[in-house]
Amino acid sequence: GSQVSLYGTHQAGIATPAQDRLAFAAFDVTTTDVTALQTMLGLWAAAAHQMSTGEPVGGTGSANSNPAAPPLDTGEAFDLDPANLTVTVGFGPSLFDDRFGLENRRPAALADLPAFPGDTLDANRSGGDIGVQACSNDPQVAFHAIRNFARMARGTAVMRWTQLGFGRTSTTSKTESTPRNLMGFKDGTNNILAENTADLDDYVWVGPDTDQPWMAGGSYLVARRIRMLIESWDTDFLSDQEAVFGRTKNTGAPLGGTAEFDTVDLDAKDADGGPVIPATAHIRLAAPATNGGMKILRRGYSYTDGIDADTGLLDAGLFFICYQADPTKQFVPIQQRLGHGDALNEYIRHTGSAVFAVPPGLSGPGDWFGKKLF
Ligand code: HEM
Repeated sequence: GSQVSLYGTHQAGIATPAQDRLAFAAFDVTTTDVTALQTMLGLWAAAAHQMSTGEPVGGTGSANSNPAAPPLDTGEAFDLDPANLTVTVGFGPSLFDDRFGLENRRPAALADLPAFPGDTLDANRSGGDIGVQACSNDPQVAFHAIRNFARMARGTAVMRWTQLGFGRTSTTSKTESTPRNLMGFKDGTNNILAENTADLDDYVWVGPDTDQPWMAGGSYLVARRIRMLIESWDTDFLSDQEAVFGRTKNTGAPLGGTAEFDTVDLDAKDADGGPVIPATAHIRLAAPATNGGMKILRRGYSYTDGIDADTGLLDAGLFFICYQADPTKQFVPIQQRLGHGDALNEYIRHTGSAVFAVPPGLSGPGDWFGKKLF
């Protein structure tokens, strides 16, 4: 089967080519016993390795075959290929309060996200002490990872919110084609790709000069649950939809270009002297050229959570995930700009928000998520 190793310089699930499915959970730690927290993170690391190599949690021995005890693994991924399962773990700002003696270990980059224009955040879908991103090409494998993490957390941490994603909305490798989001547009065209190691080093991985050495080689995950007002979008003329993004719907080419990967020319003028890519276009406001050169690695998923009981409309959209070396210099200023001027705002609502410090990769068996933090 296809496997991605848990072990390496950086955690898996960031520069790993985006898998098709997502199961995400944020946990709150309920104990004040730091040893219990460390033990849980160690159990998680061992289990993540087992699950990503296609073994059950606890291995194939007595942990899963004793008739007089509940099996350690819940069982629904037995016989399934791991399908490139990756499990990525990060720590939220709230973990660094006074419960665990970590007050002086909080990186400056792990600031609570500020309020952005138009935010309609639901506290029950936001924040969390620990974030876990499980991705796989098999939805049951991704869910199994989250479920078993929650089970191992019992008595130590509880789930605060979860999110399933059913389709990737970005490309993170040259080996992948560009998928489409629920608005029907190709998404992930201008993204940081795994093959571009210079961009990863400059914009995604935390360098050795960090204020918190335990984060060197790590990254920061920002998650935003962004609902799309799909019914309203679907009544919008094609030309307006394309003006909203600054790209054509069919090919994904930038307005004024002909093919998806044509260079975006933000200075191009039409016959009347107006900008070919409108002033309010999403790709203009999000572009590195508009944001002091800053880039992010996008790795989000489409979601649908049934029907909004208040309106009868679909609750569906984009569970936006991005990785960066410092959210205060990357996601935050980009989102400020989008929040103020993006034409897309008419058709979306940010309903959930979280930020997590994702420590570096695990060196091998015995290492665990955040070992250098404690
Ligand atoms: C580009 C969709 C939210 C940052 C794009 C593109 C689409 C798109 C279709 C053009 C193709 C591409 O280059 O990937 C959406 C939708 C969103 C959303 C539907 C919400 C539902 C966000 C947010 C951010 C963001 C919240 C960051 C704060 C970017 C960036 C680019 C981009 C950096 C590339 C711009 C460039 O350099 O050309 N997005 N996006 N997007 N988006 Fe979004």
